[in-house]
Amino acid sequence: MPTNDVPRDSDLSEERNTLFDYTDTIFADEDLLEIGHLPAPERIVGRDEHMQKVADALNPAIFGSAPSHLFVFGKTGTGKTLISRSVTEMLQTEADREGVTVQYAFIDCGEKNTEASVVKRVAQSLNDPERTEFTVPERGLATGDYYERLWTVLDTCTDVAIVILDEIDMLEDDEVLRKLSRASENRRIDSARIGVIGISNKIDYPDQMSERVKSSFSRDELVFPPYDANQLGEILENRRDAFHDGVLTDDAIPLAAALAAQEHGDARKAIDILRNAGRIAKRVDEETVTEDHIRQAKEKTEVDRLAELIDGSPLQAKVLLYALTKLTTNNDGVEFTSREIYHAYTRTAAAIDLDALSERRTRELLQEQDFLNVIDSTKESRGRGEGVTGKHRLLESPDIVLEVLLRDDRLEPLEE
Ligand SMILES: Nc1ncnc2c1ncn2[C@@H]1O[C@H](COP(=O)(O)OP(=O)(O)OP(=O)(O)O)[C@@H](O)[C@H]1O
Ligand SMILES: [Mg+2]
Repeated sequence: MPTNDVPRDSDLSEERNTLFDYTDTIFADEDLLEIGHLPAPERIVGRDEHMQKVADALNPAIFGSAPSHLFVFGKTGTGKTLISRSVTEMLQTEADREGVTVQYAFIDCGEKNTEASVVKRVAQSLNDPERTEFTVPERGLATGDYYERLWTVLDTCTDVAIVILDEIDMLEDDEVLRKLSRASENRRIDSARIGVIGISNKIDYPDQMSERVKSSFSRDELVFPPYDANQLGEILENRRDAFHDGVLTDDAIPLAAALAAQEHGDARKAIDILRNAGRIAKRVDEETVTEDHIRQAKEKTEVDRLAELIDGSPLQAKVLLYALTKLTTNNDGVEFTSREIYHAYTRTAAAIDLDALSERRTRELLQEQDFLNVIDSTKESRGRGEGVTGKHRLLESPDIVLEVLLRDDRLEPLEE
């Protein structure tokens, strides 16, 4: 048996393992470009008004009173998550100065989408076992018991709790909103107060809420507009120190900002492009990040994002998307009816020996794709008594969608 005191070769040599790189000539601090990185307040661009409104809603917490609940809407990359987290952290500091304890729980409802998993997660993140003398177990409790623990946690560990429900539209069950908002009134909790911030990129989310919750959950609402290219440029400038001096060529940031502003001003995309460009430059051993790297990075960023949305979809959904992509490439128009897509789909399905679904089922699938933000669907009335026709258009360029789709071997035979 080997023992620890047998010296190994590597211990004897001062030399570093050549599998790894020990200097990074491109990045000085790549973490500044991580999406989850929370920039310092002075690096936040163009959101003074929105930060003020979030602060107004949370303000009562400074006195230990109940904050207003808040819904934050806006397209992807408009700073919803960032602003909600940062203002909540500022509140925490200010409340602390006033002798009031504020704790917050950040829940990604894309991951925790059932009532039980949300309550459990909130209780786990706020619980201090030394004070409550219990833990919140991963499994084994009924939903009602998780609530019981949560109420105890709240009264024992904090004065005010802010519960941030990110991607709230992914919740399977919105009952948790009602219970949290009624906890105090229903005497579930005694001294603690709760404020909920719900975040979504679906502005019509309230329409999809259950009637019971919609009517009982009163809240302020806030919409975040997309950034313009100048603001995106400034956001990137404020993270220039992610790179070593002189690495970014003059055009790099303005170009990344302009490309990210093309669809709608999306800061997530701008930052992803800049980080990917740095990685590309590093991989090809260049000392600077050029315009060319930025363009390649834009393509990679779009492919990655789409792959995340599409890769896990069933084959039938991919074939349907393929049909829409082909229609888009081969025609002048950009919008197609469900019927047109269905015809193209049956031809594609036949070409790869796949049994075609019914037209009705494909219409349902098109709605699901819409949900995934890959296509945009609108409904148009055909006139009185004629029902509605769905029209659909791709949100990304067909080349990129095709590139991602054809990574699936089962679709590969389609490209001659
Ligand atoms: N105003 C801003 N100033 C500086 N950085 C910003 C700003 N807005 C967004 N960012 C950065 O852009 C990235 C995306 O922002 P954020 O995650 O807040 O977007 P989001 O609106 O929550 O998007 P999604 O709907 O896709 O979750 C983050 O890295 C964030 O730090
Ligand atoms: Mg977000």
